[in-house]
Amino acid sequence: EQAANDTGSVAVAEKTVQLATKEVTVLYGSETGNAQSLAEEFSAKLKEKQFKVSFSPLDAVKPRDLKNAKHLLIITSTQGEGDPPDNALSFYELIHSRKAPKLDGVKFSVLALGDQSYEFFCKTGKDIDKKLEELGGERFYPRVDCDVDYEESAAEWFEGVTGVLEASESLYPAGGETAGAAPKAQETAFSKSNPFHAEVLENINLNWEGSNKETHHLELSLEGSNFTFEPGDSIGIYPENEPELVDRLIQKLNWNPEEPVTINKKGDVLPIREALLYHYEITRLTKPLLQQAGTLFENSALATLLEKEDEAKAYLNGRDLVDLVEDFPPQKVKPEVFVKILRKMPPRLYSIASSYKANPDEVHLVIALDRFEANGRLRSGVCSGQIAGRVKPGDRLPVYVHRNPNFKLPADQDAPIIMIGPGTGVAPFRSFLEEREAEGITGRTWLFFGDQHFSTDFLYQLDWQNWMKNGVLERMDVAFSRDQEEKVYVQHRMFEKSKDFYAWLEDGAYVYVCGDEKHMARDVHEALIEILEKEGNMTREEAEGYLKDMRQQKRYQRDVY
Ligand code: 2AM
Repeated sequence: EQAANDTGSVAVAEKTVQLATKEVTVLYGSETGNAQSLAEEFSAKLKEKQFKVSFSPLDAVKPRDLKNAKHLLIITSTQGEGDPPDNALSFYELIHSRKAPKLDGVKFSVLALGDQSYEFFCKTGKDIDKKLEELGGERFYPRVDCDVDYEESAAEWFEGVTGVLEASESLYPAGGETAGAAPKAQETAFSKSNPFHAEVLENINLNWEGSNKETHHLELSLEGSNFTFEPGDSIGIYPENEPELVDRLIQKLNWNPEEPVTINKKGDVLPIREALLYHYEITRLTKPLLQQAGTLFENSALATLLEKEDEAKAYLNGRDLVDLVEDFPPQKVKPEVFVKILRKMPPRLYSIASSYKANPDEVHLVIALDRFEANGRLRSGVCSGQIAGRVKPGDRLPVYVHRNPNFKLPADQDAPIIMIGPGTGVAPFRSFLEEREAEGITGRTWLFFGDQHFSTDFLYQLDWQNWMKNGVLERMDVAFSRDQEEKVYVQHRMFEKSKDFYAWLEDGAYVYVCGDEKHMARDVHEALIEILEKEGNMTREEAEGYLKDMRQQKRYQRDVY
């Protein structure tokens, strides 16, 4: 086998030299891993086509390599309020600084991932695309901006890019080693585009009676899936829309629920009711959807609304498709035409709360019911509503494993770890500790957990107690925000222990933050700065620099949503 392999690679190498390989540099900026897996997939495909590919996160590229790149493919996501992903931050700053390299002769194309329901849709990709051109680069294929259902647009961008690369006459001599290797594919037949139908083993509400919350512990069987996963990875679930909502929509539009519609470019056909249940997003309105409805509905009130941008924007808030067709009834619209303006149902990601090494045939998730009242109607999150309201043991859910390379236990088992995860943010830390227990690793772990009330909301209380007893968990601090007059949050507990906290940091501790992005993660970040200022006698700038260094050393990792 070895000999056969050797002969094979020699043959490939010769062929490569003869063809005078084209060089492509694939760079990605990724927080949750979507952009990274696209970059991996595209790199592997380009290598199959005998391109000489170098592959790395945006932050890892040296200015010199950037200048010398022939074809630059950049795939990047954007964080909530328009920020670059962590592993694109210093690249982003570099190209916007005075030290930015001149990029004359560099051909580039950008694929931007984002979410239409955010104001700064695909901002990082757009900014990079613009800046590279200003620095002298030549855009050889136009940027594509993808919404949450990015697969088809991303594949089209890649096809377009490859077409240009293959057609271009400019050949470059091959030489040297290929930088970076695209990782191996998973050994499972199941994936995001071909989910595994996992049986539900348990579905338990973890909150006690009297709680304001409903947080479900969901156990799924992965038997037969061949899935593997690591602490920090997530499970993607394709949820089902609420049947009452779908039926109400169909009724409002006077459709026959059995009417067939084409749901994708492959040409798969389903009855409209099923298509709406499983394949389209109907609970969220976006600006482009409203605009397209404006054309399709032929409703004058909607046309008037669309003339006033601020009002149109305000209308999107807390409304769904049922509101839209009730408020602005369309002239006759065919299901086939209507679904074309809808977004594909995006899967929902949940951080895995169990360890593969401890339990390879199952996976545990923690899912908080998101229920709220808006515009006169009680509404629920699509997936959390389904889990809390309709999912029973024995049911099956379409799922896949989503790798998160940016939320990983330290390679060095002796490095101390500090975990900050209030509410459902505690999920990956249950996985961390279960994994360390399975591997027999003890000590130097510190968990901060918080929720509203000790008596009703202490998620997985027994697990933490057991791990404290057997040494897998060294310290735990809890903040029950509503058990006293004044709110107490995890960051207050961190600050109370600032001396120890700083000592752990100086000892090389890894800090992990999981949970709410807008409030918690921001306030925790601020608390980290304050701890550094107080205990390390740093200025604010120095503290920020310290955290930035930690990020780059992967010692400050966040999984926030
Ligand atoms: P609250 O709901 O009482 O405000 C998990 O949801 C826990 O996170 C709850 O105790 C919640 O408190 C708390 N929380 C809310 N906002 C927070 C913030 N900015 N920082 C830290 N914790 C927060």
